[in-house]
Amino acid sequence: MTTACAPGKVILFGEHAVVYGRPAIAVPVTQVRARAVVEDARSGHGLVIRALDLNLQHRFGTAVATDAPVYALEATVRHTLEWLGVETVPDLTLTLSSTVPIARGLGSGAAVATAIVRALAQHFGHSPTSRDVSDLVYQTEIIHHGTPSGIDNSVVAFEKPVYFVTGEPIQVLRVQQPFWLVVGDTGIASPTKIAVADVRRGWREHPDKYEALFKRIAAITVRAREAIAAGGIAMLGELMDENQELLEEMGVSSPELERLIDASRTAGAIGAKLCGAGRGGNMIALAESEKTRAIADRVREAGAANVIVSVVGATDRKSRRASTKESPPHDLGSP
Ligand code: PMV
Repeated sequence: MTTACAPGKVILFGEHAVVYGRPAIAVPVTQVRARAVVEDARSGHGLVIRALDLNLQHRFGTAVATDAPVYALEATVRHTLEWLGVETVPDLTLTLSSTVPIARGLGSGAAVATAIVRALAQHFGHSPTSRDVSDLVYQTEIIHHGTPSGIDNSVVAFEKPVYFVTGEPIQVLRVQQPFWLVVGDTGIASPTKIAVADVRRGWREHPDKYEALFKRIAAITVRAREAIAAGGIAMLGELMDENQELLEEMGVSSPELERLIDASRTAGAIGAKLCGAGRGGNMIALAESEKTRAIADRVREAGAANVIVSVVGATDRKSRRASTKESPPHDLGSP
């Protein structure tokens, strides 16, 4: 039996603009995880995929509609077996479960795919690099997102804070001083594909406006990287607020997101913004460690379906303990 896990993620800066070649910053969120377990089965069993949270069982290689949730799972398995050079369908059971909420900007599709790639590779005696895993998961991201920038597969596969530009090598960020994030879920599923397509439509219709927004977001992201490297937490908060304003102008925010963002600021957040595709999904608030509980409470009172507190850049046990998971298990599947 072989087991592998992968974390969720949040985008701190640069979502959407990253699809247009601008930089973005993302960090893993280890309080939510996807898990894949591979078990040998009797001869002739074939490969059966069990997605526990979806209450779904699928025989690999049998017909599946391209819009079915299992399509991306089947494709991930196929790409991985091809990469491993496994030519005949092995007799295996692949069991999947996840606490990463679906379509909420926390990278559930990338997390599940990463866990599958790692578990299958290990089961066949391979140790793929993070780069290998990221490249394979990118194929699944194309199914989920249409035109993914590649940031989700990168941050989840590397499991490190990353500064990302499409087509360039991943830069793992040095975090000078740990910082805390309160992650609030609107409870509204927002498929990345739709928000990305809407932004593309806006960009086609008003190229100057959107290019100007992307340029300003890129400048914010560059400054944020410097702030993270220098431990400039106050500056990081200001930059989050500025990035949120530009996302609002881009049309990817929503009243529900803004209600949670406002609540976090009222409770003392240093800065706050939506994260990921927007429209629904999650927001993040930057917080001093002693204020995380008050902010989490206020965000919950403002209607959050779920709240996670996560720390970025902490290596000591005390800081890690400060991260808590406050969610029941979520469904598993596409982002
Ligand atoms: O998967 P999400 O919802 O975190 O969004 C991904 C971020 C986008 O920039 C909107 C799309 C992309 O491919 O980078």
